[in-house]
Amino acid sequence: MGDLDVPLEQEMGKEEPVCDPESMGSEDMLFMLYTSGSTGTPKGLVHTQAGYLLYAAVTHKLVFDHQPGDVFGCVADIGWITGHSYVVYGPLCNGATSVLFESTPVYPDAGRYWETVQRLRINQFYGAPTAVRLLLKYGDSWVKKYDRSSLRTLGSVGEPINHEAWEWLHKVVGDSRCTVVDTWWQTETGGICIAPRPSEEGAEILPGMAMRPFFGIIPVLMDEKGNIVEGGNVSGALCLSQAWPGMARTIYGDHQRFVNAYFKAYPGYYFTGDGAHRTKGGYYQITGRMDDVINISGHRLGTAEIEDAMADHPAVPESAVIGYPHDIKGEAAFAFIVLKDNAGDADVVVKELKAAVASKIAKYAVPNEILVVKRLPKTRSGKVMRRLLRKIILGGDLGDTTTLEDPSIITEILSAYQKHRGKQAASK
Ligand code: WTA
Repeated sequence: MGDLDVPLEQEMGKEEPVCDPESMGSEDMLFMLYTSGSTGTPKGLVHTQAGYLLYAAVTHKLVFDHQPGDVFGCVADIGWITGHSYVVYGPLCNGATSVLFESTPVYPDAGRYWETVQRLRINQFYGAPTAVRLLLKYGDSWVKKYDRSSLRTLGSVGEPINHEAWEWLHKVVGDSRCTVVDTWWQTETGGICIAPRPSEEGAEILPGMAMRPFFGIIPVLMDEKGNIVEGGNVSGALCLSQAWPGMARTIYGDHQRFVNAYFKAYPGYYFTGDGAHRTKGGYYQITGRMDDVINISGHRLGTAEIEDAMADHPAVPESAVIGYPHDIKGEAAFAFIVLKDNAGDADVVVKELKAAVASKIAKYAVPNEILVVKRLPKTRSGKVMRRLLRKIILGGDLGDTTTLEDPSIITEILSAYQKHRGKQAASK
């Protein structure tokens, strides 16, 4: 045992098994959870006692069809809002048996989730699409090996679920007999806001869609001018037009930032930061973030945070990070960096940058690719044009480049990118 280790049993023995409850006001702070935004440092969102708990409990019961005696298996980390609401608060408030999962879906092998389902007779399974995308590559045999007859509801959270992953969850994991619920919500909302359930008995559920607003949630879509978009088969910025019990109340220590981040873009409405499409039938499909927030394996990250983590490197005066589609992670980070003249070996700097991001944020935040460029594309007012960088990677029409301070920069970055691609292909 090392100097820092403390035996758990010994410490637990010092405590009373029961402690007196403390009575709290309904609007007292319950907890604070940090999450990323498009600018600045992460925001400490504050949830309160009564509203949050009520909302977590009601959504847990109705979205997953949780019945007394059921075993609820949310495999999210409890440090994430998903774990807070659907491992701890919601299930426990409803007196449910809640499974605590601490591992990865592929340890010791790719059957880990389904072995857990069989052993604990889990009735509702809730996890992130990134794990589903990873597991389906290992094949169906890891699923079929275990008895999953206890399962009734399969939930997805944290990022859009692609059709392939949805179908696999439905057909292979759920043997085409379980209800699949794609649940949309955020750290800020406290609990699920858009999901296929509750709905009338037998109502349709469409793949890859969060579909219906939960009780008390009134979504609206806004166009670029801030007008409400009516009707079906339309897209826009997703806002919620009425307060609901589980919404965060403030950003700890900075209420003005809370107001600015969520209520300024569309006065009178809560702006989610996401875009959405409404079908002819009135169902919602989330299309992704509209700001500089990316979603790597269900982890929400501001591109600015990754840039900040790299900014301390003495050889890197500037960087720009963007998200691009990735098979398993959903999105991955691509970093463009500028090096000082005396920076030395670029490969060494790239390695150091990766290590810096891993230690300051987390391993999952490390950019998949880092490309050295001479300059970044900027507007005349000095703003980095990430939109152009994205187009350079993804291809397609570059659009209007007239606001660029120096248009020749595009050819410069394109040729650096093509060289980078060539080098990668050669090393494979
Ligand atoms: C994204 C996680 C598509 C979205 C509970 C949101 C989703 C952000 C879905 C919040 C979904 C979450 N379909 N996108 N079902 N669920 N998102 O705060 O961009 O970690 O704004 O909360 O994840 O991430 P957070």
